[in-house]
Amino acid sequence: MSAMPVDQVSMRRGRELLARARLDVEPGLRAWADRLPPRVRPLAGYHLGWLDEHGRARAAAAGKAVRPALAFSCARAVGGPPWHAVGAAVAVELVHAFSLVHDDVIDRDETRRHRPTVWKAFGIPAAVLTGDALLALAGRVLADASGPRSARQVALLADAVIELVEGEAADVAFETRTDVTLVDYLAMAGGKTAALMGCACALGALAAGADEARADHLAAFGRHLGLAFQIVDDLLGIYGDPAVTGKPVAADLAARKKTYPVLAALASDTPAGRELASLYAADTPIAGDRLAQATRWVTEADGRALAERAAERERTLAFAALAAADPDPDAAGDLTALAHVLVHREA
Ligand code: IPE
Ligand code: IPE
Ligand code: MG
Ligand code: MG
Repeated sequence: MSAMPVDQVSMRRGRELLARARLDVEPGLRAWADRLPPRVRPLAGYHLGWLDEHGRARAAAAGKAVRPALAFSCARAVGGPPWHAVGAAVAVELVHAFSLVHDDVIDRDETRRHRPTVWKAFGIPAAVLTGDALLALAGRVLADASGPRSARQVALLADAVIELVEGEAADVAFETRTDVTLVDYLAMAGGKTAALMGCACALGALAAGADEARADHLAAFGRHLGLAFQIVDDLLGIYGDPAVTGKPVAADLAARKKTYPVLAALASDTPAGRELASLYAADTPIAGDRLAQATRWVTEADGRALAERAAERERTLAFAALAAADPDPDAAGDLTALAHVLVHREA
């Protein structure tokens, strides 16, 4: 018997699941990305981690492989072997890659995964085109992955991309709006982040032969987990350590993003919430001391605690959806551990 507390056991199991998914998705990801033509191939390889900015090989993989882990585990959850979900896992990771390359252009962020973003290293036109190629490649992979319900999988992936794009558009529109509510936020994050996570789960399940109802329950699991994940991402964007996250800290506040902790603070009817509201409504740049002050106001107005509670709530809803899918017990244990890691992560 392990003497470790349950949380630590769960964290380790979740981390091992991610490491395994990274190993299982990487060969397919590379084989497909290597088929891209020469102007975009080096940039795709750079973002995906195996090339440096000069096109030379480097060892480290990039990204946590959350969406492949969901696809593989959901294949197991419905009683199938995980390798049936390789195509699904590669496809969802490619869509994720496309979304990050474009998101960093949209957000004007210069660092991701501890390295300059693709646009920062290669310029905006090249980054836009690389994202386009990664997105098209995802569809190509799924078209090749013949298996049960493959047409359905192509349709679900396309629907998820369309939702993601609408969510990203809302996220940008919110920067200049002062009337955004937490309900608006949940719709926006439901698109930009949760749709693809739900899709990863549904695709993994369908690739392993699940019926539509079971795939739907697993998609709901992925969506709730995706909302929890985005709320935690928002918290890391304010309170995270850039040396650990590999992303800029406070960039969301500087861009007047309507993240969950900010919206919860703005809605709090507290002195700190009102100070934050007037700072967000003014047209002065939020930088330097103002950034530190804004962070303090979010905390004082309870934005941090309310966001942590909201992430826990979404995780609980995720578990209810998982139970409704009547999952294989061992795979359910893996998905539970994964949810634990994603909510308690530091990167
Ligand atoms: C970042 O996703 C974008 C969000 C949806 C918040 P991840 O945190 O999964 O990114 P990588 O792949 O691990 O870098
Ligand atoms: C996450 O966007 C969702 C997508 C990339 C579609 P964010 O802008 O919130 O994520 P990070 O913090 O840059 O990874
Ligand atoms: Mg961003
Ligand atoms: Mg963004």
